[in-house]
Amino acid sequence: TIYQATCSAPVNIAVIKYWGKRDTSLILPTNDSLSVTLDQDHLRSVTTARADASFPAGKDRLWLNGEEETIQDGGRLRRCFDEMKKLRKAKEDKDASLPKLSEWSVHVCSENNFPTAAGLASSASGFAALIASLAALYELQPEVSSSELSRIARQGSGSACRSLFGGYVAWQGGSEASGSDSLAVEVAPQSHWPDLQALICVVSDAKKGTPSTAGMQRTVATSPLLQHRIQHVVPGRMKAISDAIRQRDFDAFAEITMADSNNFHACCLDTAPPIFYMNDVSRAIVQLVEELNRASEAEGKGKMAAYTYDAGSNAVLYAPKANVAQILAVVRHYFPNADFDDTVSLSWPSAPSP
Ligand code: DP6
Repeated sequence: TIYQATCSAPVNIAVIKYWGKRDTSLILPTNDSLSVTLDQDHLRSVTTARADASFPAGKDRLWLNGEEETIQDGGRLRRCFDEMKKLRKAKEDKDASLPKLSEWSVHVCSENNFPTAAGLASSASGFAALIASLAALYELQPEVSSSELSRIARQGSGSACRSLFGGYVAWQGGSEASGSDSLAVEVAPQSHWPDLQALICVVSDAKKGTPSTAGMQRTVATSPLLQHRIQHVVPGRMKAISDAIRQRDFDAFAEITMADSNNFHACCLDTAPPIFYMNDVSRAIVQLVEELNRASEAEGKGKMAAYTYDAGSNAVLYAPKANVAQILAVVRHYFPNADFDDTVSLSWPSAPSP
């Protein structure tokens, strides 16, 4: 008999950034973070997990975008499979009539509909979809909650824990050495603030220079600014942005989002040797959004948009629905080469690509 389940998971884009681990093996962060989960129209991972008694024992396999990945002993994938099998085993121990799927090998096939490792959070949706498909295969829900699953997804990639929820999601970093309190919780569902839209400006879909896993630990090891961020910047912002979301206060949301993106990239610059994720096009978009906001506020209206950047040059803009057409028109004007088929692709002829 074959058992099989397919799940998809969306990308999430942090507005309070996760950058740094206190435990690199369990993936425990140095600070809390908060993200918005995007809808699945443009960016998603789709994963199918299959368990078959006839698969050779003791050999789980995984294909990512058609290429087989090695599941290394002691590695992140191994840990995710093992933790999920442990949960299945507990279920089987309670109910002897269940097939012993926990003992069978699993084959997993995962596809992203967007470029991997271009700073578009592919590891987040990828690991979230892996955990969701194994949870479905093993029929773990509802006994096992999404927050419990997020604890396992976290061990695949930190940001993945936030992709198990839609809407507005906090990753509570926790303080336990075991990681038992390091998990994602919903701050508000997507339906709470459907007026907020995200616009992805693909500045470059090339693989980024410094992968986030290595980059963040270099920042932990060398940046005094990161220590300030962890102690004095993030805690207040977590509370303030959660309040802004609850009150649907776009001005406050935008101000904190942009400030946190800039603080995160300042920490990257404060790293030795420094890490540069943003390029000239990224910075031109920052100036454009700042100028749009200034003009709008001068007219007594609120902010137009907020920008945020992850470990890459691509911009994600958040804006109220009513502003999106105008933002697109301005972007079109200043970036005449922008391509609007899917997400917005931007290029700036004079910009050197790092
Ligand atoms: C800048 O989750 O990719 O996107 O836990 O090592 O897999 P690992 O790192 P990852 O880092 C994401 C960093 C970020 C900020 C964020 O998503 O919060």
